[in-house]
Amino acid sequence: MSFKEKINPGKLPLHVAVIMDGNGRWAKQKGKIRVFGHQNGVKAVRDTVEGAAEIGIKFLTMYAFSTENWNRPRYEVDALMELLVSTISKEKETLNKNNIRLLAIGDLNSLPGKCHQELQEAIRDTSANTRMSLVLALSYSSKWELMNAMKQIATKIEKHEMEASSVNEQTIAEHLCTKGIPDPELLIRTSGEYRISNFLLWQIAYAELYFTDKLWPDFRREDLYEAIVSYQQRERRFGMVSEQLSK
Ligand code: IPE
Ligand code: IPE
Ligand code: MG
Repeated sequence: MSFKEKINPGKLPLHVAVIMDGNGRWAKQKGKIRVFGHQNGVKAVRDTVEGAAEIGIKFLTMYAFSTENWNRPRYEVDALMELLVSTISKEKETLNKNNIRLLAIGDLNSLPGKCHQELQEAIRDTSANTRMSLVLALSYSSKWELMNAMKQIATKIEKHEMEASSVNEQTIAEHLCTKGIPDPELLIRTSGEYRISNFLLWQIAYAELYFTDKLWPDFRREDLYEAIVSYQQRERRFGMVSEQLSK
């Protein structure tokens, strides 16, 4: 029985987030340069996106480039940005065909002009699609996002547009890049690393975490389904006790 068949369609996570890791190691294992791993990671993105839409996931967030990734060697950063531009322009049609809307979170203004432009176009051209939202995290880090939110809120208080005493969880959520997007119920990280690497710290407060040793270029929809089956076997208690949940 495949993992897909084991999924309970009535208990699907609304939002799945993925830390796509292990491209460099995948390439190294094959005696190739790191960029070869990134190129092959695109296939995994395509299959995961299609696989998620196919079973009815509504939001899929993929960590593609972190604020810290700017510190990689210049050659690798440039190659990643170029790959991003070519992938977005190539995949736009597929997104439209599959009725998938593209969104992006992160410091998008820090992306090279061509990349930012291609991204904005794809976001605009897919904005009417309704089946699933694909959220790309680009030049994203959670601490950057939270710092920005705090600055915006502080400015509003300073200008008397808001009272400090009225700040609540919702106020903070509304000043994050993920405004309007529900929190992920499931976070997947590939490549056997057990860390969050500055990703969605606020939003994953109650997410179920799933780690796999698979390196990202080897990840396919069946791996996503396996993670969802694992998620569905867990009891999410939100601080309560088991007995309260069955009521
Ligand atoms: C993930 O793979 C892709 C990005 C971070 C852009 P890595 O490039 O981090 O690959 P490893 O972790 O070095 O193997
Ligand atoms: C996290 O992967 C960022 C992305 C997947 C885009 P990294 O490979 O950059 O994270 P660390 O350095 O292992 O924490
Ligand atoms: Mg890595």
